[in-house]
Amino acid sequence: MSVDGWSEHEPVLLSETISLLEPRSNGLYLDGTLGGGGHAEAILDASSPAGRLIGLDRDPRAIERSRIRLARFGDRVELHERNFATLAESPELAAVRLDGALLDLGVSSAQIDEKARGFSYQQDAPLDMRMGPRGEPARDLLARADIDELTEIIRRYGEERHARRIALAIVRERERLSIETTGRLREIVERAVPRSEHPLKSVARVFQALRIAVNEELESLSSGLPQIVERLVEGARFVVISYHSLEDRIVKHYFRDLAIDCICPPGLPVCRCDKRSEAVILTHRPLTPAPAETERNPRARSARLRAIERRAAA
Ligand SMILES: C[S@@+](CC[C@H](N)C(=O)[O-])C[C@H]1O[C@@H](n2cnc3c(N)ncnc32)[C@H](O)[C@@H]1O
Repeated sequence: MSVDGWSEHEPVLLSETISLLEPRSNGLYLDGTLGGGGHAEAILDASSPAGRLIGLDRDPRAIERSRIRLARFGDRVELHERNFATLAESPELAAVRLDGALLDLGVSSAQIDEKARGFSYQQDAPLDMRMGPRGEPARDLLARADIDELTEIIRRYGEERHARRIALAIVRERERLSIETTGRLREIVERAVPRSEHPLKSVARVFQALRIAVNEELESLSSGLPQIVERLVEGARFVVISYHSLEDRIVKHYFRDLAIDCICPPGLPVCRCDKRSEAVILTHRPLTPAPAETERNPRARSARLRAIERRAAA
């Protein structure tokens, strides 16, 4: 079934996610990144007849579409337009106790395919790139940032070696005429990098970098992870699927720090720190999609899944 393409987003690593979460009836689950609602629907099916799900997305369109897709579950579902990094600020959600949680980061296929959002360099559209209505659109960031900031964004989030050349070209071009569309940005990047070096790959990296910066994706992840973990009951599982090496690194380090039992310097005869393990790591290496999945759904190629089980705080 498709609702304007929104249910066509194929949930990545779906069976792995459900096996790890082990949803059960009477459990309460959080999907912090609803998107098209595919994972959410599977969690609700697996936790029938009485499991409940709280779904969040910063994109009102995702909420609207998931509401339609998940309508058959009635009052087992509660949806909120919200950044998962603001869970603790929510009067209705701050006190929840969760039996499992999922983050499936990044953008959905539906967002990329929606021309007016400006996520894709394959169609000419206004340069917006915001997942939700708040924040600074990409065109404003491109008009405001200086060369150093642009270079840093493109190098760090896009891992693009020609970052400085591209940043210089952006600054030079915006003095002539403001950069308002994806088509114009694509042209500027294509002209800035050597022809011999697959300019379209640089374009893709610049678009990814801008999207991450515009939506403050890494900041949301760093601040959202502890807010979710604090709300997990003992034995609850938390699954995070990331698509960028910087995201995966944040998740890996955060999970590793949670799982460590003592952080005293080596050689101390007795433990003097209060650090106690708060989770068990369930995936010592990240899970990645099987070849059959990436063949069917190329978007899954860069996916990395990590999971933990919450332990009682000592
Ligand atoms: C990869 S899609 C999720 C797809 C979903 N699992 C499915 O099966 O359809 C990511 C979604 O997360 C949302 N998102 C990304 N970062 C977010 C954040 N910090 N808070 C809330 N939603 C976020 C995006 O708007 C997008 O709809």
